[in-house]
Amino acid sequence: MIKMKNYDIAKKILLDKISCHPDIAVVLGSGLANISRYLDNSISIPYHSIPNYPQTTVHGHSGKFTFGKIGDINVLLAVGRFHYYEGYSLKEIAAPINLFSKLKIKDLIITNSAGSMNENYPPGNFLIAKAHLDCTYRNNSYEPSLINHEKYHDSKLTQIALSCAKKLNLKAHLGTYCWTMGPAYETPAEIHDMQKYGGDAVGMSTVPEIIKAGELCMRTLTMSCLTNFAAGISKKKLTHDEVVYYANKFDNDFSKLLRDIIKKHYKN
Ligand code: HPA
Repeated sequence: MIKMKNYDIAKKILLDKISCHPDIAVVLGSGLANISRYLDNSISIPYHSIPNYPQTTVHGHSGKFTFGKIGDINVLLAVGRFHYYEGYSLKEIAAPINLFSKLKIKDLIITNSAGSMNENYPPGNFLIAKAHLDCTYRNNSYEPSLINHEKYHDSKLTQIALSCAKKLNLKAHLGTYCWTMGPAYETPAEIHDMQKYGGDAVGMSTVPEIIKAGELCMRTLTMSCLTNFAAGISKKKLTHDEVVYYANKFDNDFSKLLRDIIKKHYKN
């Protein structure tokens, strides 16, 4: 379990390797690592080289930090994340976000692969979160509350993301991301409920990271690569391998969009 003093050690290990404070961090979801290609002078630091740091266990999550430059901008990628369904606590899931904050990073992009619950947003489209819903029912069975506060979903980064997508001729929509417990995919009835609450995309991650980043006053953009139609909209049984396959397929466009958002954010 990572403790506060471990963050100081982790920070030192990273700073010794990269010799500067990154401007922005990006958490990469399942099958979405092509952005690494756009980094100049990149170096990687495996999670296992950091004492007590959580380790990835899920296929499609490689488990390393990659640091590099896009123009003059110092970018730190977390390639691989931690999920509640792997048995990690909320604190452990948020370890990368705590570490970014220790590194004085103020800007954060959180990405994921997600299922589309909106028939107008087919696989290959992207979702920029304007809100999120915790649909894990970990504490009670009440209807989840919609969280759409600026603290969690930065409006400036959102507008930049939408305008970059338009320029690249990519289909990106504003919408609501729903977090489910996993690791099983949802039933059509569960998807129906989340649609009723206003959900557009569903996935098994991200919300704990958004909440921690909000607590730490980071400017956060959350972006989903829609890899499939969710259960019920699609009649096909979904597998994780299929999600990773489609994420890889759409990753070129997704990564170009990420690169352009980062460039434009620092140009303004
Ligand atoms: N459900 C949950 N998580 C997902 C999905 C889905 O349909 N697609 C990608 N991650």
